[in-house]
Amino acid sequence: MISFQEFSVQDNRDKLDFLKKADLRARGFNIVGMFDEIETVTQMRNKIKELNILSDRDPCERKFFWILRDNYLIGVITLRPALNGFWLHNAGYIGIAIDKPYRGQNCGTEAFKKMCKKANAEYGIKDIIVAALIDNVASRAMIEKSGGKYWDTIIAADGEQLARYWVKSE
Ligand SMILES: CC(C)(COP(=O)(O)OP(=O)(O)OC[C@H]1O[C@@H](n2cnc3c(N)ncnc32)[C@H](O)[C@@H]1OP(=O)(O)O)[C@@H](O)C(=O)NCCC(=O)NCCS
Repeated sequence: MISFQEFSVQDNRDKLDFLKKADLRARGFNIVGMFDEIETVTQMRNKIKELNILSDRDPCERKFFWILRDNYLIGVITLRPALNGFWLHNAGYIGIAIDKPYRGQNCGTEAFKKMCKKANAEYGIKDIIVAALIDNVASRAMIEKSGGKYWDTIIAADGEQLARYWVKSE
């Protein structure tokens, strides 16, 4: 069973070990790239504290959650409850990465659907806009399997082509 735990300034060594060993990369981005230089639990907690502060550079609240399958860490998922124009054009409400050994086992789809429900239940977001690199087959399949309807394809700020979808959340 898939569950979420929000990133917390009380997170312990198990989370840091996961960040260090997990492969959460996709072409062109790493959802937890900001933790690349982090080596200690204290540094990790400080980074989590930092992520909770809005900045001029990124004034869009972003929540991070650990994804667990049967209480075992397998990935990370983010939610931007108040999407601004920049992120509407560059990523959408939800970002997700499953550690490589656990991909292709429906975990991504299960977690994505669960986050759509949470976005509606806790923030009233009924139409969830998400985006995938046009050639990210797994991400697009996950979104479509979750009820995502293709909207359009745009060029993001970094020049990449992004396929945008919207998901009607129940
Ligand atoms: C996108 C991602 C989260 C999907 O997670 P997942 O657990 O593998 O997803 P699922 O197992 O639910 O699979 C979703 C669909 O993608 C398909 N798929 C998975 N990997 C694939 C691959 N390498 N090539 C083609 N299709 C693939 C699956 O077969 C499945 O479709 P199906 O059930 O119709 O066969 C995962 O691949 C990942 O973490 N990728 C790196 C980060 C990323 O790209 N994030 C998305 C951008 S926000």
